[in-house]
Amino acid sequence: MEALGIDVGGTGIKAAPVDLKKGKRLTKRLRIPTPQPSTPEAVYDVLDEMIAHFEWTGAIGCAVPSVVRGGVVCTAANIDDGWIGRNAGADLAQRYGRTVTVLNDADAAGLAENTFGAAAELEGTVLLLTLGTGIGSALFTDGVLVPNTELGHLEFKGQDAELYAAARLVSRGLSEREWAVRLNEYLNYVEDVLSPDHLVLGGGISKNFDQYSDLLSTNATIRPARFRNRAGIIGAALATGGVT
Ligand code: BGC
Repeated sequence: MEALGIDVGGTGIKAAPVDLKKGKRLTKRLRIPTPQPSTPEAVYDVLDEMIAHFEWTGAIGCAVPSVVRGGVVCTAANIDDGWIGRNAGADLAQRYGRTVTVLNDADAAGLAENTFGAAAELEGTVLLLTLGTGIGSALFTDGVLVPNTELGHLEFKGQDAELYAAARLVSRGLSEREWAVRLNEYLNYVEDVLSPDHLVLGGGISKNFDQYSDLLSTNATIRPARFRNRAGIIGAALATGGVT
């Protein structure tokens, strides 16, 4: 079984067909810069291009950086506000004449890690955090996803946590060490709130995790995600269950 996984991010939209039994991309991914402004219509035009590129007639899953409930996009932190209240699931189903599964990007990444990646063997409460432009979260309890947790928006040190601890701060002048110290503070705060058994960290940090691991200390085990920037695509495809 196969599905097209699409990951809509603040700077790039990525897609690839995925083998759902193996959790592997079937081809190289296609990346197109996110149009600015990133309105639903402008993003839908990019999706048209991607579906045409892969000549895709099967199942489609689409991850977005927002709370998504029953296909309806409810928030827009790193994407155009025009998404708020849009039933993206219904829009895309009408556009492509088949079911399109729309879900939160971190939840998609979590599904990939939970099914085939770093969280596959873990029991208990597992929290995956994606550390990039924002902070995304996917919470699993004994393998079952609790969707839309949005722990990047916890109030921390008087501000939105992702403004304090997102990885993008490194490209904005914070040293890697300073960022790791902030991240550790945030992880400890999340631990106070949720007491997870395991933390899985995705985003750029998963590439050079050894560089940071000594600076991170929680009661929960901490490990890097496996799929790095492929998790959103793979998880979006998995979320379809192959259903068109
Ligand atoms: C959004 C989340 C998203 C995360 C990572 C946050 O700003 O609110 O929905 O999962 O960024 O993209």
